[in-house]
Order: sequence, then C-alpha cells, then structure tokens
Amino acid sequence: MTQRDSVTVLVSGRGSNLKALIQHQSGYRIGHVISDNPDAGGLRIAREAGIPTTIVERSSYATLVDFKAGILKAVTMSEPVVVALAGFMVLLQPEFIQSYHGRLLNIHPSLLPNFPGLRTHERALEAQSTQHGCTVHYVDAGMDTGPLIAQSAVPVMPGDSLETLSERVLAQEHILYPLIVRGVVQGDINLEGRTVRYSSAFIAIAEQQGLRLFA
Ligand code: GRF
Repeated sequence: MTQRDSVTVLVSGRGSNLKALIQHQSGYRIGHVISDNPDAGGLRIAREAGIPTTIVERSSYATLVDFKAGILKAVTMSEPVVVALAGFMVLLQPEFIQSYHGRLLNIHPSLLPNFPGLRTHERALEAQSTQHGCTVHYVDAGMDTGPLIAQSAVPVMPGDSLETLSERVLAQEHILYPLIVRGVVQGDINLEGRTVRYSSAFIAIAEQQGLRLFA
C-alpha cells in the first residue's frame, strides 16, 4: 500500500544529497532509492541506511526507450508520493513527467534560470558572478526548466576556486532539499499549472532560512 510520506530518490553518483535527505527525514520517509549506475555512491549510502534499492542499467535494455520505461516501472513499483532526483543523469521521458506531475523534484547547483545543464560552478566563475547557489524545482520535459520552488544563494568570494565554491553551494543543497521535500510531502508546497503555491507556515520557514521563493 502507498505510504503517504514515502519518497523515492533517483541517483547516478556520489549521493551526498541523498545522505542529507536521509539524515533529515522528518515529515517524509525515504522509501526507496533507484540508480542507473551500479557503482553509485548513493546506492551504498541507501544500503547502509537499510533503504531498499533498485538498479536499472542502460546495458540491460535493447533501446533507450525501453531503458526509460524500466526506470518508470521501478519508480511506480516503489509507490512514492514524491520522487526526488538527486544527481540523476538520465533525462526522463514525458510519460514519467506526466505521471508524477506536481510530485517530481530536482535539485540543481545554480540559481536558475542561470546556468542550466552541467559545469555550473565553472560557468559561474567564468561569468564572474557575484552570487551563486542552488535551486529546487519541479521537473518538466526540458533540462532544468521546470517551475522553480526555492533557491538558496551564496556569495562568490574573491579567490574562490571550483572546490571552495562548489562546497559552499553543496552545503546549502543539503539544507534546502530536505526542507522542500518535506514541504511537498506535507502539502505545504503545491503546483497549480506552472505556478507554485506555498502555505503561510512554509513561507515563514523560508523567511527564517533566507530562502528565495517564487510566489
Ligand atoms: C548536486 O550538485 C546536485 O545539485 C546536482 O548533482 C549533484 C549531485 O551530487 N543535480 P550528490 O550525488 O547529491 O552528491
């Protein structure tokens, strides 16, 4: 039976956001972790936390379409209320996005709409941005183009390297994602069309945390 608070997390790599989501579980529960990469650090983190995992590998499927259908099947079988992408490197097919409309989240390491796609920290440094940060958004069919839910900004300091800047942003990601996942699971954040609605309780939390919202 579907648990009202169960979140399935999709990871391809290291899994530090998954770890933060596990550590801050309250108001939601990580019920399942799915990866396309059998070597993903995220899988190890999930196993250590006793969370069931499923691997859906591209090489097990004849076509890309079948592979993506396999991902959707694994997610559906895990019966989540919310699906959280956390460093998941596969672009999902439209059927997936429609099935989980308003319940499919991603975290991105930039202040969208700045720097969608990859190499965000390098690009922020190259552009001499004075502010950088991370965004949690609903997923739509584009790459990092879905309705924005919340952002956490950090300053870019003189002399920042790729490492110092990415660490500063990642620390914010680990605070931001659990807050937003909890908000969506608890019904404090909702999607109406492409407009994001927040409860007044959530707006108060966001103000306290210095988050940027998109009401
Ligand atoms: C994070 O920077 C996240 O914003 C991006 O991919 C990275 C994943 O890192 N989508 P991790 O696997 O959670 O450590």
